Amino acid sequence: MDSIIVNGGSELHGQIHIAGAKNAALALMPVTLLTEEPLTLTNTPRLSDIRTMSQLLQSLGAEVTALNDGRVVALSSHGLTSTRADYDIVRKMRASNLVLGPLLAREGRAVVSLPGGCAIGARPMDIHTTALEALGAEIELKDGYLHAEARGGLKGAVVPLRFASVGATENLLMAATLAKGSTVIENAAREPEIVDLASCLRRMGAQIEGDGTSRIEIQGVDRLSGATHPVVTDRIELGTYMLAPVIAGGEVECVGGRLDLVTAFVEKLEAAGVEVEETQVGLKVRRANGRPSAVDVVTEPFPGFPTDLQAQMMAMLCTAEGTSVLEERIFENRFMHAPELMRMGADIEVHGGTATVKGVERLKGAPVMATDLRASVSLILAGLAAEGETQVNRVYHLDRGYEHVEEKLGAVGARIERVKER
Ligand code: UD1
Repeated sequence: MDSIIVNGGSELHGQIHIAGAKNAALALMPVTLLTEEPLTLTNTPRLSDIRTMSQLLQSLGAEVTALNDGRVVALSSHGLTSTRADYDIVRKMRASNLVLGPLLAREGRAVVSLPGGCAIGARPMDIHTTALEALGAEIELKDGYLHAEARGGLKGAVVPLRFASVGATENLLMAATLAKGSTVIENAAREPEIVDLASCLRRMGAQIEGDGTSRIEIQGVDRLSGATHPVVTDRIELGTYMLAPVIAGGEVECVGGRLDLVTAFVEKLEAAGVEVEETQVGLKVRRANGRPSAVDVVTEPFPGFPTDLQAQMMAMLCTAEGTSVLEERIFENRFMHAPELMRMGADIEVHGGTATVKGVERLKGAPVMATDLRASVSLILAGLAAEGETQVNRVYHLDRGYEHVEEKLGAVGARIERVKER
């Protein structure tokens, strides 16, 4: 497996281009299953998760072509050959479950493997299944697979979600576009990726209102047409690179960055003494004099502080002045990076869903191991300011969600390289 070597201590200066959002693209690609006409996504990120979703859609009979070096993905599902999402693909990536709603809507049935646990917690599917059952689907668990059927087709309904799950909102939104009559999603997730999905569906002729709020209304239509849609900016990649100059020192402009995508995160950065400026092309971040100050963080659904930036924020707080408390409220086991950061000299105590971080002046490089996608990038960030060499192992997690991290950070002055597995 490849590893990444970081030598800390260089300030960062320059621009980093932020890619299209992984999590938006993973919800947009299954939209192809809702129409016989071509769907073209632009501004797609070049990531292994996108290739995994392509393989899954191809296994269902869709045509998926990466163009322009992966920046554009052309999809077409005029003839589907299967309605089964196999365990072999689903276990690699939980977002594979996003084919469930579209397959049910288009084909009236779907067999989708349950994803199983992952490093950050149990991640069940009950909110997805309860929501689709409310539209008239019958769903049964057999041999680790959800067998879903909607004999008379899906019918609109008022569907309250017990928690504002991102994936369940996406599955339900896609399914409801082709259901008979109107659907109301109550306690819907409000993430920008949901708004992006709804905008793409509207381009295709879907009737949707209220996305971005907790109440989404969908009026079902008979068919959807094709469309070309640009994927929204990746707010998690954006937040990650905004933290780089805070940790390493210097000034970085994140091209394509938008304040409205990272408002809660920027509030915390400013409270820590970081300067964030909106520019013509994005967001510029500069660490004010000296170390950042400690801040407390609670992860919440959007518009709250994103769980997907918690590990990176912790890496920054390890060298802040004072004591910070981080509370993880979305996932049950998302502090796996803490013991790795402690190997680099961080002072962290974890009790259940709360981590207390006492800032130290300097971290020290060490060999560390990445357990999940966001944890791995937090270790790279920590390495940027650590004394000496940090070797981050098992970076296949990283390649699921960050394109060319070593090139992007290297171009602004970080001493970072990938060591290929022989
Ligand atoms: C999406 C993101 C992921 C992010 C997460 C929370 C994608 C591809 N992934 O994941 O990066 O960390 O949102 O912002 O967009 N839950 C249930 N039952 C369900 C569904 C979820 O109990 O049926 C729980 C989960 O275990 C978790 C919480 O709800 O504790 C949030 O999950 P959810 O919002 O569904 O996240 P994902 O859509 O899987």
